[in-house]
Amino acid sequence: MRQYSLIAPAKINLYLEIIGARADDYHELAMILQSISLADQIDLHAANTQTIRVFCDHPQIPTDESNLAHRAAVLMASNFPTAFSNFGGVDITVKKRIPVAAGLAGGSTNAAAVLVGIDLLWGLGLTQSQLEELGANLGSDVPFCIGGGTAIATGRGEQLSPLPSLNNMYLVLAKYKSLAVSTPWAYQTYREQFGAEYIKNHQDFTQRTKAVHAAEIVQAIAVQDVEVISHKLHNDLEKVVLPAYPQVLQLRELFAKQPEVLGTMMSGSGPSVFAIVESKQDAETVKEKITVAINNSDLELFVTQTIGHGIQLETRH
Ligand code: C5P
Repeated sequence: MRQYSLIAPAKINLYLEIIGARADDYHELAMILQSISLADQIDLHAANTQTIRVFCDHPQIPTDESNLAHRAAVLMASNFPTAFSNFGGVDITVKKRIPVAAGLAGGSTNAAAVLVGIDLLWGLGLTQSQLEELGANLGSDVPFCIGGGTAIATGRGEQLSPLPSLNNMYLVLAKYKSLAVSTPWAYQTYREQFGAEYIKNHQDFTQRTKAVHAAEIVQAIAVQDVEVISHKLHNDLEKVVLPAYPQVLQLRELFAKQPEVLGTMMSGSGPSVFAIVESKQDAETVKEKITVAINNSDLELFVTQTIGHGIQLETRH
């Protein structure tokens, strides 16, 4: 097979708790991650060039070595040099639908798709956990993006425990096109403001993580109780991002005022905000009301839903 097309879904955080600072400068986290139907398409094509090239239809996205999809291909080439020299280069085309720098793991899911796609292209037969291990070198969210669905993520975010899948929960997702939040800035600012509350040693990390496993939101996911899930949404990074970005706070407050909205939260380090509703029709109603109320062409709104998978093959050529 010389070409594969893959669907690379975005993720939201139903829960993000910052537990402490780690020796490696990352933060110890307890998160619940959820794949959504909003997705990019990644086409991989075996080229006769011995080079890795990225093409993207989004003008803001660099296609050079800094692109995470590019880095994923370089990682595969350096881990499997024989396959790389046998099969030659790879052309990667990213059809961007997921908002950029939004807290939706757009870059991470592209990288995950490249790992999965090159594994297929070169016939490597890697397992999901081998792919996840490779993915952890590229970014904390990459391992989750490979298998997707619903999962507890601890450590840096790369240690995954699957949860029962939460299919067909409807959401409205909003993002100001011109706003981008730097993830390192969000974590750094959090550390400056709340670092004194951090738990200091690793033993405590484990205990705290266990408490999260037992948390009400995890139980609500087990019984698919959308109302309880909506009331228990949590994201520590809101404490630093909302005060710094008043437009995001306003959006969050406007969502919360809609009678159809069961719960609303910023995703990841933001600035995208999602609202959980009961049905597709409620999602369309809320999307319409927010569009009218904010009346700003810079605001993008999506009706989307939770899904039970990560990277998937679209069509075979
Ligand atoms: O892992 P990733 O490259 O996606 O992380 C981006 C940045 O977010 C890191 O450089 C770090 O500043 C911050 N981060 C963190 N703790 C985590 C995950 C990310 O401090 N667990």
